[in-house]
Formats: sequence, C-alpha cells, structure tokens
Amino acid sequence: MKKIILDCDPGMDDSMAIVMAAKAPELDLLAVTTVNGNYPVDVTCVNARKTLELLGRTDIPVARGMANPVIRKSPSDPFTHGKDGQAEANLPDPKMPLCELDAVDLIIKLVKENPGEITLVVTGPMSNVAMAMIKAPEIKEMIHDIVAISGMFGLNDYAFMNATGDTPQSEWNVYVDPEASKVVYESGVKLTALGLDVATYFDVDFTDDQLALLEKSDRKEAAFLANAVRFVRGRGFGAYCAVIDCMAVAYAIDPTLVETFDAHVGVETKDGLTLGMTVIDRRHHFVWEQLPLISIGKKADCGRFLKLLLDLVLA
Ligand code: BDR
Ligand code: CA
Repeated sequence: MKKIILDCDPGMDDSMAIVMAAKAPELDLLAVTTVNGNYPVDVTCVNARKTLELLGRTDIPVARGMANPVIRKSPSDPFTHGKDGQAEANLPDPKMPLCELDAVDLIIKLVKENPGEITLVVTGPMSNVAMAMIKAPEIKEMIHDIVAISGMFGLNDYAFMNATGDTPQSEWNVYVDPEASKVVYESGVKLTALGLDVATYFDVDFTDDQLALLEKSDRKEAAFLANAVRFVRGRGFGAYCAVIDCMAVAYAIDPTLVETFDAHVGVETKDGLTLGMTVIDRRHHFVWEQLPLISIGKKADCGRFLKLLLDLVLA
C-alpha cells in the first residue's frame, strides 16, 4: 500500500478526493490535512471531517492547517461550492475531534516517521506543505514524492478557457498562494503537477445511467457525488467541476492514467496580469535550467479515470 497524506481544501471536489483516498485499497491514507483555499480553513476542517464520518472512517486524523497563504491575504473563490462548500449536501455536523497537532506539524511528524515512503497528494493551495518545508527543511529529502492539482501549462484550450485563478492564465491553487507553490516547486522533491490541462476535461461526464446508478446505491458517498454533479450542472458548469481533485488521487493509485512529461517551470509571484502563472520553458535552446524540473500532466485517460472513480464510490 502506498502511504499518502491528502492535503486539501474541501470543497466538493476535494471531498470526493477524500472519498477516493479513503476507499482505495492501494492507498494507506495516513491523514487528511486541511488548508485555506476554496473556503476558509475552519470550513475546510469541518468538511473534511463530515466526509470521513460519512464514510465511517473517523480513524483517519484530520489536522487544521494554514488559515492564510504564507505571505499574502487570501482571495475569496468566485466559484461556488454552495453554502456548505459541499454542493449543499448538508451533511451532519462532525463529531470527530481535530488532531491535536496542526497540519504543518502533522506533516513533519508523519514524514519523519516514514522516511522515503510518503506521497503528499495536494489538492489545495500549497501553504501547508511549503510551511512544513520551511519549518523542517530536512523533510524534503524524506518525502517520496508530491502529486498535486496545480498550475495550468497552456497545453490545450480547456486549460485556457477554464483557468480557475483570478488572472487570465492561472490555476486557483497556485493563484491563492503563489509563494508557497514556488517553495514547493523549487524544493527538489519529485513533483507531478496535474494542471488544468488534464483536470478540466470535458470528456469527463456522467451518463444518465451512471447518475441513476449512483442515486440507487445505498452508499452515502454515491448520493453525495450525484448531488454534486447535479449541483454544478445546474449552475451551468461541466460535471468535471465536481471531481477535479480526484485526478490527483487517481494518479497516486495508478500513474498510468495520466501521461506526463518533464519540463522546467517557474511560478510567477509578481502581482498583476500574470500572478500565479506557471511558466513552462520548453525551448530547445537557451532553456532556463535554473527553473525546477517537474513532471507535468499532458493527457489523461478520462474513461479509465471515471471508471476508477465510480467503482470506488460504489464499492
Ligand atoms: C482547483 O481549484 C479548486 O477550486 C479545486 O478544488 C481544485 O483544487 C482547480 O483549479
Ligand atoms: Ca481543491
């Protein structure tokens, strides 16, 4: 089993990522750490625990993370996940306690206890992970790798048309905390960034039959997913919006789901038009080799991804 920590900002798609991570037999979900992002951290803490309680997995610790980006004020997300941040599923208030450690200290502790073994799956702004690396730089050599929903690399029209940050070519998680992303991108830890190029796929949709199957199931998480899909569709968005972050968990389960390539990438931290942009240097000559070399998602097998997601939700 692959040991993972899921660092997230639920959000409906982060909630679905928690469902996948907790249910996948290939993964050992050591902790869910929450961060400010789609919603303030107090809300993301509540939603992470609601989701684990829905699954009956209160054995998995939830730790509260950074309430703000490392040096900036947080923007507020113009995309609505509903009043509760979970597509108005209105799950019962959580009873399970939060972990005594905060997210940064829990990440440091777990990485040190499992040197070389942990994959950090990051589906929110990178504030917690960056702060853990700043506080305990020695963990950088102990993290197996990071898989993140992060960036947009201009590989296709979907990425441009669905850019989620508030600047024309940025992705939300990087846009919220670009300095944190820069720290993590430059950390030397193996990073696979699944950007909007692969995570905002129009090919991911749910047929009426699939929705009916979800709605007929006695699994509460199946009803949760069906409701989220109907919620985003009802607001004129593609169904993929309900499951963007699931791609990172799916990749942790089965890396053959997404074709990747390596390139040098810089994160723009200057305010203005390009704030939060992940600038890729693919030049044959004169490439800026001082920029970190990371793996970038190029093409996802959406059919297999969707099957994996549905199988896990219905299991
Ligand atoms: C990312 O932004 C958030 O709204 C989603 O949860 C996802 O992590 C996509 O840009
Ligand atoms: Ca997210």
